[in-house]
Amino acid sequence: MATDYHLLAAQAQALVADEPDWIANAANLSALLFHALPDVNFAGFYRYEHGGLILGPFQGRPACVRIALGHGVCGTAVQRGQSLLVPDVHAFAGHIACDQASRSELVLIIKHQQQLLGVLDLDSPKLARFSQSDQQGLTEILRTVGAD
Ligand code: SME
Repeated sequence: MATDYHLLAAQAQALVADEPDWIANAANLSALLFHALPDVNFAGFYRYEHGGLILGPFQGRPACVRIALGHGVCGTAVQRGQSLLVPDVHAFAGHIACDQASRSELVLIIKHQQQLLGVLDLDSPKLARFSQSDQQGLTEILRTVGAD
């Protein structure tokens, strides 16, 4: 069944409403997405700091802490300045396998007032798990919680 992104956006909005602490909000958002989206083995944030990516709040197995620009799906998305939907991570040169089970990945760029804040990273053990409508729905959720 397709994910109800309108409902998920409303839940995301309710979770962060009136709470300015970004760590608490990012932690709750990653938990919301991890449990609401089927076939996802990682849902979390990497923050853009000092010209690289550093692991932020997430749900899933322990993950690699630092990702340089141009490395992996996350670092490539940031270097290109665009979100990346990867149906088969084995076909993506330079993919960083934090969890050997991961087969597909969606990385969304997060900006606020045109400043790069980081990325939202979602992994799945299922090939081609993420569609354009997942990308659109998740982009809408990020907007709902204050991203550009
Ligand atoms: N696969 C990512 C690394 C982060 S983990 O998936 C949590 C990448 O290639 O950038």
